Amino acid sequence: MTGAARRWAVVPAAGRGERFGRATPKQYLKLRGRAVLSWSIRAMLADRSIRGVVVAIAAGDRRFRRLPEAEDPRVRSCIGGARRELSVAHALECLSDVARDADWVLIHDAARPCLHREDLRRLLAQAGRDSNGGLLALPVGDTLKRAVDRNRVAATVPREGLWRALTPQLFRYGVLRRALRLCLTHGREVTDEASAVEALGLRPVLVQGRGDNIKLTNPEDLALAAAILAARR
Ligand code: CTP
Ligand code: MG
Repeated sequence: MTGAARRWAVVPAAGRGERFGRATPKQYLKLRGRAVLSWSIRAMLADRSIRGVVVAIAAGDRRFRRLPEAEDPRVRSCIGGARRELSVAHALECLSDVARDADWVLIHDAARPCLHREDLRRLLAQAGRDSNGGLLALPVGDTLKRAVDRNRVAATVPREGLWRALTPQLFRYGVLRRALRLCLTHGREVTDEASAVEALGLRPVLVQGRGDNIKLTNPEDLALAAAILAARR
């Protein structure tokens, strides 16, 4: 089958938020009037070129279906896995009836509610013309230390050429599916989709993003996200 490559999105939202330490998983905490996950899904839906969004949720999740975004015709859900890459792999399978190998798929953390539409636009433009795909990322700004004995400085690591990987990340559907399958087969743990694609020998492009596209990891990040969103209004 031929035709222009289409765009899909996957939002992994099946984590438990252990570092956040709340009974309610962080993706369902209230942030300026709506759930964190709602913000992250809306950031994908804001781009009309995205045909569909698959949200990977935990087995037994009773919260997702109550979000207004769950009613959107472009949104569907699937059950995630015990690790992030399994959640993403399941969501890709869930797209297999509609997505073609040459289509593009964006992967965006549920826990990243502050994605700016300008960042999404830039990623789609720059990574979308690179056959390896790419990701939003940020050059490391702090001085880096390597530790020994848990917390004793062994060395200062040059930060030149080092970037922090953010999401969304954008890859060809077929490439990402193959990359994740290979990692799962070999039991290789990956913390982002780019590292799976790198394991195929490809070199995704780094697209510089905004520093306020934070991931909610620790409890103090919620107030920070609220301030970031408030400042945009
Ligand atoms: N995620 C997922 N499936 C998993 C683990 C994580 O879909 N088995 C998702 C999370 O819901 C989150 C994103 O991957 O949106 C980034 O992961 P992270 O920030 O590590 O979230 P958690 O795993 O929930 O948090 P923690 O590691 O503190 O438990
Ligand atoms: Mg985690």
